[in-house]
Amino acid sequence: MYNPFDPYNTKLSYIEKKNEILYSGKAKTLFKTNDPYVLIQHFNDDATAFNGKKKDVISNKGIYNNISSIIFSHLHFKNINTHFLGRLNDREMLVSRVDIYPIEVVVRNIVAGSLSKRLGIEEGKIVNFPIIEYYYKNDELDDPMVISDHIFGLGLIKDFDKSTLELITNLAYHVNYILKEFFEKRNILLVDMKLEFGFEHNRKFTVLADEISPDTCRLWDMTTNEKLDKDRFRRDLGGVEESYKEILNRLL
Ligand code: TMP
Ligand code: ASP
Repeated sequence: MYNPFDPYNTKLSYIEKKNEILYSGKAKTLFKTNDPYVLIQHFNDDATAFNGKKKDVISNKGIYNNISSIIFSHLHFKNINTHFLGRLNDREMLVSRVDIYPIEVVVRNIVAGSLSKRLGIEEGKIVNFPIIEYYYKNDELDDPMVISDHIFGLGLIKDFDKSTLELITNLAYHVNYILKEFFEKRNILLVDMKLEFGFEHNRKFTVLADEISPDTCRLWDMTTNEKLDKDRFRRDLGGVEESYKEILNRLL
């Protein structure tokens, strides 16, 4: 039977979680399994912002961030290659193992956040076409914005060529097109989002990876422009849990 959370319809029932952590991030942990190509992405309740300088625990945030499973499942059915293999439970998704490229791809449909600050443009302006920015993932440098010439003129990233940057850029436009419509149907504006891509070990090609959640997107109510994402935490607006819950409810 069709199950959007198990796109491969395998249930991957042979998978067993190992008590071995491959990677521990700020708000999620990747566990190894008995299959070297399969990992478990576990969302916890930690919230951080400004490269970890601001920290708190938001109850049930991990459950709400597993909204990521719903979004990745939708993208899978729209023929986007992703690391998503299935939703395991409330807080966990099964993913294939990838080497993440150290580039964050930000797509913007409406001016907000750092773009608003840098260019002195008021938040809320609709851009003429989706704007793509690249950030070099480097905690010590606070993930600086880079352009293609920085990446290739300086050889910033090993084994990363122009065709891969072109591929992930095209994928980012495509994902944005799909998700903008997906959220609009739920009366939510996709203001901007951060995407990550990686090289999948098993199939040996580039896939969309990481998470897509209110932690990594700006999501505004389409009627009121109320913020329903991590900006509520970053800017101390209160109601973080309620907003994340609202997004989950609209997506179910
Ligand atoms: P920005 O306006 O702060 O540059 O953020 C753009 C988008 O990227 C926004 O949706 C939040 C997301 N984002 C992350 O997911 N992680 C980060 O570390 C940063 C800085 C932004
Ligand atoms: N993800 C980053 C952090 O945890 C920054 C952010 O989302 O604002 O610090």
